[in-house]
Amino acid sequence: MAFVTTTESGVPIQGPTATLLYDDWYPALRTETLRPGKLATAMLLDIPLVVGRRSDGRVFAMRDSCPHRGIPLSVGWFDGKRVTCRYHGWEFEPCSGQCAAIPSLSSHDHLDATRIFATAFPCEERDGHAWVYIPSPGSGRKSEGAERRPGQGLRAVPELAKFGPRYRSAFLTAELPCNVDHGIIGLMDPAHGPFVHQAWWWRTRGSIREKTKRFEPIPEGFRMSAHAPSGNSAPYKLLGVYGHPVETTIDFVLPNRRTEVIRCGDKWFSSLTTVTPVTGSTCRIDVVAAWNVFYHVPLVTPIAKFFGAKFVRQDQVTMIQQAEGLRHNPSLMLIDDADKPAKWYFALKQARLEGGASKHPMDGPVELHWRS
Ligand code: FES
Ligand SMILES: [Fe+2]
Repeated sequence: MAFVTTTESGVPIQGPTATLLYDDWYPALRTETLRPGKLATAMLLDIPLVVGRRSDGRVFAMRDSCPHRGIPLSVGWFDGKRVTCRYHGWEFEPCSGQCAAIPSLSSHDHLDATRIFATAFPCEERDGHAWVYIPSPGSGRKSEGAERRPGQGLRAVPELAKFGPRYRSAFLTAELPCNVDHGIIGLMDPAHGPFVHQAWWWRTRGSIREKTKRFEPIPEGFRMSAHAPSGNSAPYKLLGVYGHPVETTIDFVLPNRRTEVIRCGDKWFSSLTTVTPVTGSTCRIDVVAAWNVFYHVPLVTPIAKFFGAKFVRQDQVTMIQQAEGLRHNPSLMLIDDADKPAKWYFALKQARLEGGASKHPMDGPVELHWRS
């Protein structure tokens, strides 16, 4: 029986689940949604989280479950320092999860409350996201601030590349009713562009032409090597106005990150797109972007957001339709060369699951050819 759930917006899902990659950072929510003294909730990798910001500014993420009897901590209280469970009033320091007080203890008790911990996850704020490190189930407590101390083995917190102090930025999100693998391979799939993203300002079916792209292996991922971007899309043409050669580099790295950097002289555009497993069978796409192109032109940010949102919405609509088909567990295909990146993704993921024992699926740089 397939796992049954719904997306947050209530779309019923009964699709295949994906194997999840632990021991890495995932964006839980936008920190602008955090209010002083308030608790927010999020879900990552089927784990319910309670997220907040301490009065000293630090963000935290705990499992939304009291270690005493399991009631969600998010229905309790938060005074900016401690999270208090609404059932029996146990108090927790939210960054470490350490219990600070158990109101029912009397002078006859010898229980040391501070030896009790609620599950707290390493949590860091970057680019307006609360990033949460999700360890493998049963791998023990990750100490507070472990990500700040060298040698403690946590990977670096993901961050959008920026090439100067002055830039504008935007953010987009969409829930996808399919598992993270479908979300990711949909993201890296070049062949859907002319069909899903038909628009005068992007490209049309009529503009399909043969492409050759060079890819190279990078640690736990692959890079579409620096190239002049497709001549058949209007936004890229606009960048040409600066009169310098335009170069684009697109990287994909595990577990779920696509970064794109476009540079043209001292002008740049940078984006970080992640597809995050919310549950085993649903995911969410988040895009953060920053740029200094057209810095002084008014309305560029709302216009960029409008077109970006439209673009992401097109992917979302397609994946809602796809999820309908996937409910019946059809057998699927990956073809050459347009689906080659998807094959690399699955091989890289398998290698990570095996503890890095198998080698990188790419021997060296290769050229792929497709029409889009
Ligand atoms: S359930 Fe939380 S204090 Fe008892
Ligand atoms: Fe797309």
